[in-house]
Amino acid sequence: MINVVGLGYIGLPTALMLAAHDVKVVGTDYNQNLVDTLREGKTTFEEEGLEELFKTAVKKGITFSREYQSTDLYIIAVPTPYDKASKKVDASYVAGAVKAVMEVCQKGATIVVESTVSPGTIDRYVRPVVEEKGFVIGEDIHLAHAPERIIPGNMVYELKHNSRTIGADKREIGEKVKTLYQSFCEGEIVVTDIRTAEMTKVVENTFRDINIAFANELAKICRSDNMDVYEIIRIANKHPRVNILSPGPGVGGHCISVDPWFLVGDYPGLANIILSARKINDSMPDFVLERIRTIMKEHQISDVGRVGLYGLTYKENVDDMRESPTLQMLESMERHLCGGQIRVYDPYVVQDIVPHQYHQLDAFLQDIDLIVLMVGHDEIKENMEKLQGKIILDTRHICFLEGTYRL
Ligand SMILES: NC(=O)c1ccc[n+]([C@@H]2O[C@H](COP(=O)([O-])OP(=O)(O)OC[C@H]3O[C@@H](n4cnc5c(N)ncnc54)[C@H](O)[C@@H]3O)[C@@H](O)[C@H]2O)c1
Repeated sequence: MINVVGLGYIGLPTALMLAAHDVKVVGTDYNQNLVDTLREGKTTFEEEGLEELFKTAVKKGITFSREYQSTDLYIIAVPTPYDKASKKVDASYVAGAVKAVMEVCQKGATIVVESTVSPGTIDRYVRPVVEEKGFVIGEDIHLAHAPERIIPGNMVYELKHNSRTIGADKREIGEKVKTLYQSFCEGEIVVTDIRTAEMTKVVENTFRDINIAFANELAKICRSDNMDVYEIIRIANKHPRVNILSPGPGVGGHCISVDPWFLVGDYPGLANIILSARKINDSMPDFVLERIRTIMKEHQISDVGRVGLYGLTYKENVDDMRESPTLQMLESMERHLCGGQIRVYDPYVVQDIVPHQYHQLDAFLQDIDLIVLMVGHDEIKENMEKLQGKIILDTRHICFLEGTYRL
């Protein structure tokens, strides 16, 4: 039996996928509400294909609990935020989960850390927890790291089709964990050592952050000198070895906007391009704010209550709002005491998260003159004609109505 610890965006689909492929799974989370919801037969977030996968997994016998199980294989998928002051990974959740597992695990058990961690985290924070308990690593307990690459919005497909990396102290443990993931994963699975697996995962997200930052910096340069960044990127990308990404209002989510900080925190003075990229991407919500101010002035809009932000999530067609550019922008407005009555709407966010939040597109549109497209949900792409007559600031390059303002 496998005990998956942490049933969030990563742990839940992983647990369900294993169970759906005939692996006996118990999912553990210390959040009572979350466990209750799952036990009631409901999923805890929206994701294409998750509902069906959930039903299959339940049929095949997955159960959910607050208790850590006594077994010989654990997958740990708990959060790894970064410490805002030191920029280093906050490994306390991982260490806490491993500590809890140590209380109940069987001798010879394997603990697979799925959470994203910076290189050396397992050495620094996980091994001591195991050793404190008197266990000998490699004999009583085996450690492995299996970082996850799936993207919200396409998680179920990617769980099955992505290639992945398994790091382990011993080759045979790596191969054993690989066999487990092969129960559902059709992609290539590379087995390596733990530190290489840790570094590889962080490098992947850092690569993406740097590439986004380049596009965002181009947007700023082009704006300063009245050039069309989208046209320039479109033409430049015709070069066979150039592939510039699209600029946007910033980077959110729990991976790309977080993981590069681990390298900045651990390698200060060396991680220079990485730090610059983080700063550029983090500056984008304020850049959008500046664009809003300019457009308001141009149209003599003095009441911020006539401005509406479309989209609260960090990307399109998901309900995940963590670190979202819109939330970053609202925070910045609050800091500068200019939040006022700005309106906000997101079809994926049903609960009230911010003041002046709408739950209905038409009502939202009725109350605003300037709409800022922060997220390219399909809903708005399919209803662009409703924006006729509005002043539009499109940060995602999805609206082609005449007069649309861009980054
Ligand atoms: N969300 C993504 O798109 C994504 C993609 C790849 C990798 N990751 C990484 O996966 C890891 C998990 O991220 P997530 O998005 O699933 O986080 P999450 O916050 O959605 O879920 C984590 C869950 O762990 C539970 N938890 C925390 N400590 C626990 C403990 N000691 N015992 C039991 N339950 C505990 C929490 O209650 C929560 O439900 C992170 O390291 C993240 O960086 C996330």
